Amino acid sequence: MSHFPFETQRALFPILSRKTQLSSCSQSALATPVSDAITRYMASWSEKGMDWGGWAVVLDQAKAEFARLIGADAADIAVMSCVSDLASSVGNCLSFDAQRDGIVLGEIDFPSLGHVWLAQKARGASVQFVQSDAGGEIALDDYARVINDRTRLVSVSQVSYSNGFKQDIAAIAQLARAHGALLFVDAYQSAGAMQIDVVRDGIDMLVCGAQKYLLGCPGIAFMYVRRDLAEQLKPVNTGWFGRVNPFAFDIRTLDYAQGARRFDTGTPPYINGAAACAGMAILNTLDMAQVEAHIEHLSTVTLREAARHGLPITSPLDPRRKGSNTAIRVNDSASVERRMADAGFIVSARGAVIRIAPHFYNTEQDVAGAVAALARIV
Ligand SMILES: Cc1ncc(COP(=O)(O)O)c(C=O)c1O
Repeated sequence: MSHFPFETQRALFPILSRKTQLSSCSQSALATPVSDAITRYMASWSEKGMDWGGWAVVLDQAKAEFARLIGADAADIAVMSCVSDLASSVGNCLSFDAQRDGIVLGEIDFPSLGHVWLAQKARGASVQFVQSDAGGEIALDDYARVINDRTRLVSVSQVSYSNGFKQDIAAIAQLARAHGALLFVDAYQSAGAMQIDVVRDGIDMLVCGAQKYLLGCPGIAFMYVRRDLAEQLKPVNTGWFGRVNPFAFDIRTLDYAQGARRFDTGTPPYINGAAACAGMAILNTLDMAQVEAHIEHLSTVTLREAARHGLPITSPLDPRRKGSNTAIRVNDSASVERRMADAGFIVSARGAVIRIAPHFYNTEQDVAGAVAALARIV
């Protein structure tokens, strides 16, 4: 048994003394500092009546925490309520014409991204899906075959929600740049679980919502936009928070705030922002290299135990080629998820698979116990 590096932080998650939560690909465990942050919001509302100034400060802190996790600056982060909205806003402010009409994305990416980019066909875009191989992976060469000088946007899920396959986003960034295309990274299954450096990797835009590896709750999502790119874009989905001075209350002037803040729209989801801020603050006290290594180790254990029990694994079998999520094919995944929950193991059903998705606070025993329970149930 290897050393577990996060014993102290594990104590921040009360549910872990009662249950084995391995559902970070869907919703991570609730930490005490996160519930305290929600309580503080409620107390300020209850005691002060309203506290717009205080709530705005916490939202700015949330942007700063997210920026820190991905190697960016707080000024380069926008918020909306979900990744689909952020992606739609990006699509709606890009132009698609005969010279540049292509949007490229992987078929194992989250369906919402397919829907958002397909909706751009009405604005002149043509959408191309890159197919995965029999093992559920997409090789760089397959992206290279479809990205060309007509590609406006390459949209990539860093880690697939369905099978955990991890894409080399730095290499795709190079490919996109070589053809003058923009790179949009969906980091919903990776941010908070691995090291990310948007500047080093040459990423133009990166999005992530709060409730998975960022330890928050649904209702808020963050977007990084490279500064000089943001300055060239004029979001059509907009509102007073995207103005140079939201409090100018000038109904006739559509000016755009500097940087990513121009993607902000209306009153932000402050309470969700407070939860997300507290969750990411926990992550920012950790060494993300150590988090990434620990999660990769848990992948090794999960894959080994699943193979030992003869369970059909649909994730990459090399732990270095996947994120946290290990997918196992089952019949009637929704009922298996319920029976696992009855046995004290919180895992996530998606289509034909059960996903076992540990975070830094999980142990080898957690994942081995869940695989053994799954083998008994199926
Ligand atoms: C990789 C990925 N992208 C996007 C989404 C959905 O994003 P949203 O509901 O915030 O629009 C999910 C949700 O599971 C996801 O896993």
